[in-house]
Amino acid sequence: LKDKYVGQIAGAADEAALEAVRLAALGKKGEISLMMRSLGGMSPEERQSFGPALNALKTELSDAIAARRDALAEAALEKRLAREWVDVTQPPRPQPEGTIHPISQVMEEVIAIFADLGYAVAEGPQIETDWYNFDALNIPAEHPSRTEMDTFYMHRDPGDNRPPHVLRTHTSPVQIRYMEQHGVPCRIIAPGRVYRADYDQTHTPMFHQYEGLCIDRDVSMANLKWTLEEFCRAFFEVDGVELRFRASHFPFTEPSAEVDIRCSWEGGQLKIGEGDDWLEILGSGMVHPKVLAAAGVDPDKWQGFAFGMGIDRIAMLKYGIPDLRAFFDSDLRWLRHYGFRT
Ligand code: PHE
Repeated sequence: LKDKYVGQIAGAADEAALEAVRLAALGKKGEISLMMRSLGGMSPEERQSFGPALNALKTELSDAIAARRDALAEAALEKRLAREWVDVTQPPRPQPEGTIHPISQVMEEVIAIFADLGYAVAEGPQIETDWYNFDALNIPAEHPSRTEMDTFYMHRDPGDNRPPHVLRTHTSPVQIRYMEQHGVPCRIIAPGRVYRADYDQTHTPMFHQYEGLCIDRDVSMANLKWTLEEFCRAFFEVDGVELRFRASHFPFTEPSAEVDIRCSWEGGQLKIGEGDDWLEILGSGMVHPKVLAAAGVDPDKWQGFAFGMGIDRIAMLKYGIPDLRAFFDSDLRWLRHYGFRT
């Protein structure tokens, strides 16, 4: 009996065959198990001699099966290792790789430049209450700029008494939110998405702005001018940038200025810093006392400037991108052409 099973165990070619042998010998209805059960019907003397022998046989076969199982597993692994191997000297296959979108790239550049000037980055929600988007910025309900901005209003069911919400039309509400939360003095830029119902070659219903805000004891318009010039020099990488401050009007700044940058269009090629053309790049001014007060800041003690610049606009200027709408078309050929490699 022993020789029979030891022979079968040694001859089992794989785990399944080995398991079949185990069942035949030691399974519930296996030969040896049945013999163990028949011990009950034997005389005490017979049991004395058969019992220990059977037990020893059972142990021996179990051990042999376990050993064989290990050997089979080992052999299988060896076989796999011989078959599956990687030639590390092979050159890798080219992987398609994404690019950084020009808007993301420009946001990072702007943040890095202002970080050097001591500005932190702040953010606010894109779905904004009309209080933060308008009222706190000194734009009362009947003010024409509420309609001029082509605001997207969030739908409200009758009886909904939450405050009215809009898709923010500019990043200026972040001024209020930041000063409310962190107080003054402060120096921040707030990049993000803004929304206006407008669509043509130079307008998309969603676009990007960043807001700048600098509040301290005696910040002046001169500091604003220096800051913007410093930024443009670094961003456009030209020493001779020239900015033109044009008197303008925003409800949330007084005085207000729109700022143009000197440029030339030669043969459709835009050059920053030379020529006789001017291109508007941002709105700015000294933060209105009412805006400071709305954010809980004492306008008798604090003052400062704010500005809002179109990120998409300056990205077009810096990288010579002719149509704003292409930014959001997700055309892979466009993205490969204008995108940045990491
Ligand atoms: N919020 C203004 C706009 O979107 C820009 C601006 C920001 C002007 C801050 C002055 C100060 O047009």
